[in-house]
Amino acid sequence: MALLSSLPSGWLAYAIAGILIAVIVRLLYRVRTDPLSHVPNAGLLAPISRLAWAFPHEYRGTITLDLPKLHDKLGPLVRIGPTEVSFYSLDAYDVIHKAGSKFEKDPRVYGGFVQDGHPALFSITDPGEHARRRRLMGQVYNRSKVPLLEELMLHHITHWTRCIARSPQAVDLPVSCRALEADIISDFSFGTTVGAIGAWANGGELAMVAKNDELASWMPVITNLPGLWEKLESLQTCLATITGYQPALWRGLGDFVEWSHNSFNTLTKSKGEDAAINPTSGFPTLAGTLTRSGLPALTALAEAKENMGPGTDTTSASLAHVLWALAHNASFQDELYRDLKRVGFSTDMTTLEGIPRMRACVKEGVRWAGAAAAMLPRVVPQGGVELHGMFLPEGTILTSSPIWYLRDATAFPNPDEFNPYRWMTPDATELRQDSLRDKYYIPFSKGANVCIGNQ
Ligand code: HEM
Repeated sequence: MALLSSLPSGWLAYAIAGILIAVIVRLLYRVRTDPLSHVPNAGLLAPISRLAWAFPHEYRGTITLDLPKLHDKLGPLVRIGPTEVSFYSLDAYDVIHKAGSKFEKDPRVYGGFVQDGHPALFSITDPGEHARRRRLMGQVYNRSKVPLLEELMLHHITHWTRCIARSPQAVDLPVSCRALEADIISDFSFGTTVGAIGAWANGGELAMVAKNDELASWMPVITNLPGLWEKLESLQTCLATITGYQPALWRGLGDFVEWSHNSFNTLTKSKGEDAAINPTSGFPTLAGTLTRSGLPALTALAEAKENMGPGTDTTSASLAHVLWALAHNASFQDELYRDLKRVGFSTDMTTLEGIPRMRACVKEGVRWAGAAAAMLPRVVPQGGVELHGMFLPEGTILTSSPIWYLRDATAFPNPDEFNPYRWMTPDATELRQDSLRDKYYIPFSKGANVCIGNQ
């Protein structure tokens, strides 16, 4: 204090102003000379920190809606962070997501999905390990296996439709579809259900399901501010130890951990072939099949747990959208009903695939719902890459969302409209060929990480 008071008056103000100017000049110099300075910026502060532009848009949940508007103005490449570039270009998508691509998943984001320290197919970033795991999982996901799942699906669909028929009031579609998919996928993965349909039919959404969804909305915090998230976790652990009170989010997540461990133990207690088999359907379970194939128990458990995310939110959102759209397109619904009646309401997969109106309805529903509304960040490999005349060095994060291409007006005129006829011939008797439309139809992404559940 004595030193400061002995300095000439106004000195402190000059010193602060000087430091500020030096910081700004340094930042401007860095921004102008860094290797991504030629890429248009999403916002003034985007090159300085991803917390300045990307994080607030992720936190509000609007990033996949806001970026296409910026791409319209700024072109196919837009910088959204110091080392991160968003791209809206199918040509670039093909380079980055082609089979055998060297652009690995961004560990900052995919690491946030790892369960108990055991990466599963969705969160594995190493391409070699990913390819080995994918081969193993093909045992239950390949197209040839899908008809074997018919009984399992019908069992839960029947339960669900009966509950809807008995419901005294209007049904909340997203919640009820979520319950249906949660039971199907938990049964498929563990050989037993989380009991979501029962809970929903009794008037409540199952906390295990609702809180896993809520966790997804915290992903921007988990991946951008991992230190803060860890502190929140420790705080709630302390709170629970001292007071016995646990916030609803952690209670729901804890319920799911307990349920999955118990279900996994029950499944793997049975020996030999039985360990892999679902008692209801006779279909091999995911967890049992992976354990039987030599995957360590905790990794097989992580795979089954992680499957609950990508397997249920996408399918339930798509189903809810299709049902809503059918309710608002009465004539199409009537025609589809007649087609299904003609085949005796068969549930055989090949028969259903043979009905053009059914295929058009599902394809348009999946397109229109755009359920995988996430950005899929990848790391530029050694040597960098040139895209749209711009060089992007090794380590740059390149990111895009498959849903942008599904709502692209070039390939899908009036993209916001649910229009199954865009897939059909004018007389609506057959599916119509359209290579541009099919090129843009990438709801399951492409290449090595194409959705394993797409069948
Ligand atoms: C309409 C339904 C679905 C849509 C739109 C969809 C979409 C996607 C997309 C876009 C990806 C790529 C993600 C990335 O690269 O990060 C993906 C991956 C994945 N999906 Fe799906 N999905 C659907 C249904 C399912 C189902 C039913 C399951 C499981 C039963 C599933 C399990 C997975 C898994 C495990 C991955 C990771 C694949 C890998 O990295 O190799 N999905 N999905």
